[in-house]
Amino acid sequence: MSKKIILITGGAGFLGCNLTRKLLEEGHKVIVLDDLSTGRLQNLIDFEKNENFEFIKHDICDPIDVRADWIFNFACPASPPKYQKDPIQTIKTSVWGSFNLLELARKYGSRILHTSTSEVYGDPTVHPQIETYRGNVNPIGIRACYDEGKRCAETLFFDYKRKFDLDIKVVRIFNTYGPYMDPDDGRVISNFVVRALKGLPLEVYGDGKQTRSFCYVDDMIKALLLMINSNSDVIGPINIGNPGEFSINELVKVLESLFAKKLSINYKNLPQDDPMKRKPDITLARELLGWEPKINLNEGLENSVKYFRSVISEYNADPFSCDSCLQ
Ligand SMILES: NC(=O)c1ccc[n+]([C@@H]2O[C@H](COP(=O)([O-])OP(=O)(O)OC[C@H]3O[C@@H](n4cnc5c(N)ncnc54)[C@H](O)[C@@H]3O)[C@@H](O)[C@H]2O)c1
Repeated sequence: MSKKIILITGGAGFLGCNLTRKLLEEGHKVIVLDDLSTGRLQNLIDFEKNENFEFIKHDICDPIDVRADWIFNFACPASPPKYQKDPIQTIKTSVWGSFNLLELARKYGSRILHTSTSEVYGDPTVHPQIETYRGNVNPIGIRACYDEGKRCAETLFFDYKRKFDLDIKVVRIFNTYGPYMDPDDGRVISNFVVRALKGLPLEVYGDGKQTRSFCYVDDMIKALLLMINSNSDVIGPINIGNPGEFSINELVKVLESLFAKKLSINYKNLPQDDPMKRKPDITLARELLGWEPKINLNEGLENSVKYFRSVISEYNADPFSCDSCLQ
């Protein structure tokens, strides 16, 4: 494959830094642009001396002028506590940030891939979720800054395609986990594993019967690479995720067998608009990209536990305080 100049916005975050590693291994030049609001420079430390790597601290809500062949837009906080902390900035990032990147892609004729989310389906009434399902989102709830922001970003991407024939790609990512997740980010897997490692009770919201699908990061990165390399008529939106469906209580059981002990649980109230079911229909990804996830929950969790074990010592005593992020 020819060497490309690749801009990764949000590249200091979980998915972005995993993709950066892979693209540098393939010999591309990678420019990471990140405002470090939820990402960490620590995630990029391995690439510091790589001559193909560059880091720019920048908020995508401000215009940018960087020439790139490909743009991956990951910039946006992804965990509910983080995106709800400054909901207006979250919407601005999704919508205004996307606008700035689309203008950039237009200026240089770049291919641009946008990471949308399963949250565009809201609390779904169709199960499993297929791309043609239009979703069930509460537009004024506390999750709307993220869900509606991402929905509007998809609209913008498709309007740029229709109006300027821009080379766009849109993927809808379902819950993904693995090494380089922020131990402090408040998503269920990082939360459970870090608390289990610290000997703290796991926090289960509601009765734990709500279901989620969990995709291991290596599978996700493979899908993103297949998508960016696909023909220009493969636009999306395409669901990318693992169709294995687990209730939160079942996730606890898998972790108990990994830790070989009973884990104590604190039950808490279900947050507003928390979806009850989540499972991607990945027929389209199978057909168009020849992709399906290969790594099962047990194997993925084992790798994740190893990673979290190695990094939580870097954090302050309270792993759940945002101040403990190494930024
Ligand atoms: N991880 C998942 O399970 C998941 C699921 C669905 C969608 N996604 C999407 O994938 C993308 C990456 O998610 P992640 O899990 O790596 O999250 P993350 O929070 O680890 O990474 C997001 C990165 O974007 C940066 N960022 C946020 N706002 C920015 C701004 N205005 N300007 C520049 N940088 C900014 C953050 O500092 C961070 O480095 C997000 O857009 C998210 O919505 C992720």
